[in-house]
Amino acid sequence: MQTVMVTGGTGYIGSHTAVELINEGFRVLIADNLSNSEAGVLDGIEKITGVRPGFEELDICDEAALKSYLDRNPEISAIIHFAAFKAVGESVDKPLKYYRNNLVSLINLLEQMLIRSITNLVFSSSCTVYGQPDLLPVTESAPVKKAGSPYGNTKKISEDIIADTIHSDPSIKAVSLRYFNPIGAHPSALIGELPRGVPDNLVPFITQTAIGVRDVLKVFGDDYNTPDGSCIRDYLHVTDLAKAHVTAIKRLIENKNKDNYEVFNLGTGQGVSVLEMIKTFEKVNSVSLNYTITGRRPGDTEQVWADTTLANRELGWKAGSSLEEALATAWKWEKYYRESKQDK
Ligand code: NAD
Ligand code: UD1
Repeated sequence: MQTVMVTGGTGYIGSHTAVELINEGFRVLIADNLSNSEAGVLDGIEKITGVRPGFEELDICDEAALKSYLDRNPEISAIIHFAAFKAVGESVDKPLKYYRNNLVSLINLLEQMLIRSITNLVFSSSCTVYGQPDLLPVTESAPVKKAGSPYGNTKKISEDIIADTIHSDPSIKAVSLRYFNPIGAHPSALIGELPRGVPDNLVPFITQTAIGVRDVLKVFGDDYNTPDGSCIRDYLHVTDLAKAHVTAIKRLIENKNKDNYEVFNLGTGQGVSVLEMIKTFEKVNSVSLNYTITGRRPGDTEQVWADTTLANRELGWKAGSSLEEALATAWKWEKYYRESKQDK
């Protein structure tokens, strides 16, 4: 049984990936400092899979603690690195907090991988590296644009750090996965997204408005050059995204990679506007959403969606869930989460 270290594994995407890894027979060791998640997530993973993943509260930026952790877990053969800060707005106000956490954690991991001959890394990147692409759908060979935020820049720099490290020492192999917009929750509603404070992202804002925690959803602009004037994104179900990590880690472990460093887009290949998202959410869940059109959000990309040909062909992966399914699970999770909070 292969042992995979999952940094940031109690977070939103990490927890869903832990479930899929366990389902595929991997032993999962989660290392997370709980800066943006709760240890209770482990109960959800256990209820879904029947297996409780290993867990340690660990800051990947703490080099001594990381060394000690890896000393105690020599069976780790692969790492999926989710741990990072991800709030775009906060990164503009506190750039050094973001550069330190997102880059030092990666450098620490790569150094330890080299020392310990841990050869397989999957890294969480983002479609943010493309900015507003010149051609849509965007392929992996599209130029990486100047980042719109320090957060986005950490993803670009991280990809460069990984590529340069592998160039200097090809004993390591890595895959960077450029996520488009992950949404939804595990169909059981036992795990999901737990945004702290006011959500920045669209779907948590929609579900919180529908349940009454927020008064009104602001649609940021209806004067874009798109069919209905609102921005377009590629929203994929988090469970599909999680499964892509299993495929990527297997590809590395089984030496099926074509290059020592590979990059894949992960999306559905379909662009959906904000107004379409609202209509679909209302229809699928039979709820009515209070929304209003406001001005544009500074820094927003007008439209972006993925060309997923490479991931389809090389990983044999395709986002299998519909937007309707994803939005139904997002709503189920919101209701379950609010009810479980009331019970406490
Ligand atoms: P999340 O905040 O839910 O999960 C990240 C986890 O990492 C959290 O549990 C947090 O406590 C932990 N963490 C942060 N810094 C750490 C550190 N120094 N040491 C140990 N643990 C640490 O975020 P997520 O949505 O699950 O995102 C996972 C990864 O995917 C991140 O790298 C993020 O930048 C990237 N990503 C996310 C999205 C998205 O829309 N959610 C899109 C593109 C890329
Ligand atoms: C944001 C981040 C990006 C990150 C991505 C994935 C910015 C500028 N970019 O992208 O770096 O990789 O999340 O998590 O924040 N919207 C509204 N009202 C809302 C919230 C959002 O209309 O209250 C609209 C936005 O204008 C956008 C769409 O919904 O058109 C999606 O927004 P969001 O969920 O924040 O994701 P991104 O902007 O794609």
